[in-house]
Amino acid sequence: MYQHLPVYAGDPILSLHEAFMADPRPNKVSLSIGLYFDEQGRLPVLDSVRKADQKLREQERPSGYLPIEGAPDYRAAVQKLVFGADSAAVAEGRIATIQGVGGSGAIRIGADFIKSFMPGSDVWVSDPTWDNHESLMQGAGLKVARYPYYDADSNGLRYDEMLAFFARLPAGSVVLMQPCCHNPTGIDLSKAQWSGVIQVMKDGGLVPFLDMAYQGFGEGIEEDAWAVRAMVEAGLCPLVTNSFSKNFSLYGERCGGLSVVCPSADEADRVLGQLKAGIRRVYSSPPLHGERLVAAVLDTPALHQQWVAEVKDMRERIKRMRVLLAERLTAGLPGMSVDFLTEQHGMFSYTGLTSDEVDTLREKHGIYLVRSGRMCVAGLNEGNVQAVADALIVVLRARS
Ligand code: LMR
Repeated sequence: MYQHLPVYAGDPILSLHEAFMADPRPNKVSLSIGLYFDEQGRLPVLDSVRKADQKLREQERPSGYLPIEGAPDYRAAVQKLVFGADSAAVAEGRIATIQGVGGSGAIRIGADFIKSFMPGSDVWVSDPTWDNHESLMQGAGLKVARYPYYDADSNGLRYDEMLAFFARLPAGSVVLMQPCCHNPTGIDLSKAQWSGVIQVMKDGGLVPFLDMAYQGFGEGIEEDAWAVRAMVEAGLCPLVTNSFSKNFSLYGERCGGLSVVCPSADEADRVLGQLKAGIRRVYSSPPLHGERLVAAVLDTPALHQQWVAEVKDMRERIKRMRVLLAERLTAGLPGMSVDFLTEQHGMFSYTGLTSDEVDTLREKHGIYLVRSGRMCVAGLNEGNVQAVADALIVVLRARS
């Protein structure tokens, strides 16, 4: 009956993680999947989240269905975090926000919405982008293609080419960008560069789709949302997805959001209605426990403050690991510039390693990176960074 089915080749990120979990070598290092590990190499349980969890369990609240669009307090907390406490668009009721089943689920609901209500709009993603962006959009039946982004020669951004490319896109094109901590390259736009993008998008009638999966891991919780807020202030109407997987360390709870900024409150009501219709026919209503945790932390001032400090600790640890790795590589490879490591933002670094070199790192040294050369810097710690640097030095020396 199913003989005609092609064999699934596996996911470029998740299959590697499965291979890592099955690898019996004690000194293996996971630098592939986007998981933040602490200094001891563990997935942290944030103290703010633990306290909220204890309080919720004491309350013994029943597990009824959530509304299709998610709980009101959670949705309001998402809006405040993404658009800012003083956002005029939020105050005017111009943003339709739904709880997402993780950031991925939110993207898919957004993609379904584009497919249904923006006929003829193709989606453009950065070259490269997170692999699943393309799959999620294509899964909704949308046509997806790439715009210039990464410059392999300089390990930097092809900004001018990107801008010129945007200027040629037809009005109504959807352009997927990441406001902070670009996955997979770690290369973000400066504020001045964002301002250029905003102008071109306004002039050309483009629709921004902003995926913010790492808020707080770049420069700060408020700072990382700068591009989202600047676009809204400039009068653009972006679709914005966000995720609490990383900044709450709640990966398996699948907590995220989709917010569609609209020109008016009336349109936001219509959009919210259609998002609800879309959700009902896919998974009916979202999961409960994770959103209760997130809302409890964000709505309790003492816990919120503690969470901000915990995100800061994670962000600063990642930055320290970037510096440490760069120092160790420079010591072993004098003359080779590894400045990109400390210039990039967030969890990921595009190393420029080839897929063969990545395979060697995995097979010979037990060090797992994504085959594109993407390294999750948040998997480094003081205990493994020297071993990783040593293995990288061996692989890079073999080039010459
Ligand atoms: C990643 O990019 O590694 C993470 O976002 C996890 C995933 O689902 O791919």
